[in-house]
Parts: sequence; structure tokens; C-alpha cells
Amino acid sequence: MKLTIGEGFEEMSHAAAEDFIHRLERINKPLVCLPSGKTPVEFLRYVREHYLRMKRQPDWFFVGLDEWVGVAQNEKGSCREFFDRHLFKSLGVTEDRICFFNGMADDLHAECRRVESFIDSHKGIDVCVLGIGTNGHLGLNEPGSDRSLRTQVVDLTVSTRVAARDYFDEPRELYQGVTLGLGILLDSRCVLLMASGSSKSQVMQSVVEGPLDPSIPGTWLQEHPDCHVYLDRGAASGLA
Ligand code: PGA
Repeated sequence: MKLTIGEGFEEMSHAAAEDFIHRLERINKPLVCLPSGKTPVEFLRYVREHYLRMKRQPDWFFVGLDEWVGVAQNEKGSCREFFDRHLFKSLGVTEDRICFFNGMADDLHAECRRVESFIDSHKGIDVCVLGIGTNGHLGLNEPGSDRSLRTQVVDLTVSTRVAARDYFDEPRELYQGVTLGLGILLDSRCVLLMASGSSKSQVMQSVVEGPLDPSIPGTWLQEHPDCHVYLDRGAASGLA
């Protein structure tokens, strides 16, 4: 596991974005997985501006990391809508390049199989960017998630349900999510993990320095052969 610590949120985000752009330049038609949430906002702005400045449309394919069950893809607060707003619309990414979970699907298990097939047809994820929950979740793989699962429908923990309220304009009670599983995430050829702020310092101490602990899913990244962690000073404040 490699570690880069930036002074603040912007420095951390820009360092991760530079690494991301650089890695993708060496891959033809890569499959990319990106996280929604507060952490990747400046990272995505930097990536977006980079490609707009270069007047180049990236040749990437995108797979959604996760989605809230019961939330429509075009509803503000959904993971898909987040990417429409922060990346896809400005870069003109067409629908044939995107595969996201539909949290409104009647059969969520069939939905999982559909997303798995898309990933398989691209021979796995080339670059997987992740954030982390204060409880250590990756995507919506909550504490104790099975390391081998490729996708899963999950019951959300209280801390995830509370954190998710910030993503919606209207009060929203969420109970379940659908997510790429730890199996697929850890099979990605490279993982970039970003965390910002002192609320993530304890979990990042465990991820970077602690023993592997299935009750903190982020610690599984210790086993990944090409994982680069990007922190700002707040998120790094618990490190020795
Ligand atoms: P955040 O979410 O970026 O909004 O902190 C991260 C996560 O829960 O994975």
C-alpha cells in the first residue's frame, strides 16, 4: 500500500486525480469505477477540467460502485445522478459507456448479475477509485461483508443511513443499498483510495496501520498488490 498525504482537501484530490489521469493514459478503453459522495468532488472537478482543457473525450467505460435501493437514477442523491452532474454530462459520456445499478429494479439480484456481466465483458476493472465510510465500508460493503462476494444487496448500518441524508435535498430514509462486492473491488487492477477530514482519521489508522479486520472492510485493501491511499492532514492525523 502506497500513501500520499496532502496538506488539505484540494492537494489530496489533485494528487489522486493526477495519478488517475496518468494511469488511464496508458490503457486502451479502460473500465473505470468511481465513488460518489463528498470526498471525490474536487477530484472529479480536476479530472473534468483536465479533459475539457485538452478538448479530448476519454475513451473510458464506467461501472457504478453502488446505489441506494428505492432511489431512481435521475433523482438527486442517487449515485448515478451524482455522476451525470459531476462528470458524464460535461464530458459527453454516452449511455453505451455506462453501467450503473438501478436501485428501483424489481429484481435486484438480476440487477447484480447484469452489472457483473458488464464487468466480465470488460475483463475486470482497470482503475477503481474509492472513498471510505467512518465505519470502514468500501462502496456499500458494510462491516463484516464477505470478502468473496462480487456484488451484494445490503442492509445499511445506522452510520451509513445517517451519512446518506446529506446527499439528498429532501429528508429520505434509506434502508438498503446495492453494491459491487469486495471480491470485484479487490480484483481491480489498481485501487486509489481517498479520505478527507478528521472524521476519517480513526478508520484510516486501521486501514494503513492496523491488522486486517473484516469488521473494517477497508483493511482488506492491505492485501491489494497495487493500492495507493490519498489522505489530507485531517484524515492522516491518527497515523503514527
Ligand atoms: P463521503 O462518503 O465521501 O461522503 O465521506 C464516503 C463513503 O461513505 O464511502
